[in-house]
Amino acid sequence: MSTVHASTHPLVKHKITRLRDTATDPKKFRELVQEISALIAYEATADLAVVSREVQTPMEITQGWELQEKIGLVPILRAGLGMVEGIWELMPSSEVWHIGLYRDEQTLHPVQYYNKLPTEPTVSVCLILDPMLATGGSAAATIEILKDWGVKKIKFVGLIGAPEGIALLQKEHPDVPIYLAAIDDHLNEKGYIVPGLGDAGDRLFGTA
Ligand code: PRP
Ligand code: URA
Repeated sequence: MSTVHASTHPLVKHKITRLRDTATDPKKFRELVQEISALIAYEATADLAVVSREVQTPMEITQGWELQEKIGLVPILRAGLGMVEGIWELMPSSEVWHIGLYRDEQTLHPVQYYNKLPTEPTVSVCLILDPMLATGGSAAATIEILKDWGVKKIKFVGLIGAPEGIALLQKEHPDVPIYLAAIDDHLNEKGYIVPGLGDAGDRLFGTA
């Protein structure tokens, strides 16, 4: 079964509370999404492989390290876009591959509308970025796409997860670890996470 990591870091707890707050305007909301995303990505990348290499300091040559893995950031449009910049700052050599999915409001099933992945995979590890893991349908569909592409190492990096979405990913993709800022209580009858933060895409882009 896939591991689920919900951050216990005080900075994350503080910032996710501000993110939920209806008084937080879109500008602040975007800043918080970037900051929390970077903190969660830091936790999600703790096991990335490194190789040793020598480095010349002003004093002497010493032994150092560099990342061995080629990282792909995969934001799910739209809301995943808000997570990219904060993480890209930490890993500037990452490639960013966009996947466009929206959730049909009636069925709650994901509908794909954008995918420009080349035939062969160009990265060894993918971080899927989406602030909300609700039913889990969008995340599961994206994992399928990346597995079909040929990527072996996939991680889901989100902000808030519902138990229902976590259970779906654990059932369908037990090999994909899940990293979140918080695990919430349940989904309401419209598939929204409770207590959650509302519609992440609308709050990020001011379209509520
Ligand atoms: C939201 C969110 C996820 C999806 C989660 O996107 O950003 O992609 O819903 O729901 P699920 O786990 O039930 O699939 P939405 O479809 O609202 O599109 P948007 O980002 O364009 O607003
Ligand atoms: N998508 C969102 O943006 N929010 C939710 O609570 C569920 C899905």
